Amino acid sequence: MTIANDDLINAAKEARRNAYKRYSNFAVGAALIDDRGHLHVGCNVENAAYPLGNCAEAGAIAAMVMQGGRRIAKIAVVGGSGEIGPCTPCGGCRQRIHEFADEDTVILAIDDSGEWQEYTIDALLPASFHMPGLT
Ligand code: THU
Repeated sequence: MTIANDDLINAAKEARRNAYKRYSNFAVGAALIDDRGHLHVGCNVENAAYPLGNCAEAGAIAAMVMQGGRRIAKIAVVGGSGEIGPCTPCGGCRQRIHEFADEDTVILAIDDSGEWQEYTIDALLPASFHMPGLT
């Protein structure tokens, strides 16, 4: 099964509506399609103890793994406004995506205005860390 960029972006926008962004007021939604064609979504979930907050990508990836998915075919991240520009995954989430990505994985970053950018994981996280001996 394939999914159109627009459908994945709309799923991320829908997920974003549930963002728990009490402290930053910065809502993020993520939607991914795994290698089996299944859709998984997440939103950011903040906490009064700030470092305990979770990014939207982390939620979507956890949902994928819990359902047995192991590869991200395409992930859309929606956040930010025209001023800030599309919300590219934070450094930690680049590493999280890398764990389940390959060179064909498509990463879409979208903002409120509908502007979007497309990346590979290698572009976002060059010279990435991985465990020696494991690919
Ligand atoms: N955030 C995400 O959910 N994903 C990212 O890739 C960047 C940042 C969230 C974390 C926090 O709840 C809020 O955006 C502001 O940093």
